Amino acid sequence: AYRNLELANRGAVRPITVNRPDKLNAFNRETINELSLAFAQAALDDEVRVVVLAGSGDKAFVAGADIAEMSGITPQQAQRFSAAGQRMMSSVERLGKPVIARIQGFALGGGLELAMACHLRVASDKARFGLPEIQLGLLPGFGGTQRLQRLAGRAAALELCLTGTPIDAQRAYALGLVNQVATPEALDEQVNALADRLAAAAPLAAAAILDAVVNGGETAIDQGLAY
Ligand code: COA
Repeated sequence: AYRNLELANRGAVRPITVNRPDKLNAFNRETINELSLAFAQAALDDEVRVVVLAGSGDKAFVAGADIAEMSGITPQQAQRFSAAGQRMMSSVERLGKPVIARIQGFALGGGLELAMACHLRVASDKARFGLPEIQLGLLPGFGGTQRLQRLAGRAAALELCLTGTPIDAQRAYALGLVNQVATPEALDEQVNALADRLAAAAPLAAAAILDAVVNGGETAIDQGLAY
């Protein structure tokens, strides 16, 4: 049983929802650990072909790391927190099955970093994207600096990281940060249509494509395979 997540099954699609709506789904340590576990389970479950990652409520996908929990921690604890977040996000990126982020509101800080660790992003036209860490004297510590640069280029990565100012869905789409933009009413339909299409695809081919694109074929090379 998860305290901060809701899991479901919709055919071969596994929706995983961060469920702390009164905190705008901010990540505390427990939520990060639970996401790691939920993705490890999804990796092992052959029935699961696609994961849809979402945040509960209308306001936020995930509004970042839990500022209240972070404010009291020591540098050593902060280092462990970052490492746990980085590992969790790598486990999303390296799931070997497509992961879609469904973004309906704020995707800030660690929330945007998580969305960028997913393979595809579908956003509501009301969504906002930003890396406000610099305003707290921090940097995006879960791999967001690198992932944003890869997705949207160096200029956009530096602008978002150095200003901390959020952008809207249209700008995110123009930057290549999101794959599709939907009205809030059409968001679920569009996410589900994409998920169903990916779930119907050949799973080994999908896994090989993910490995080739995300890992540069490292898994195949390690295992002595060729595509
Ligand atoms: N960590 C912990 N709690 C958070 C949070 C976060 N990152 N983001 C929002 N919350 C909490 C608020 O403290 C508030 O809780 P409360 O009702 O117990 O006081 C609740 O979620 C609702 O947020 P609120 O600020 O009242 O909503 P808003 O609509 O006025 O503002 C935001 C929305 C996203 C602009 C604002 O919440 C915000 O700036 N959050 C921090 C974003 C951030 O800096 N993230 C990166 C952290 S490194």
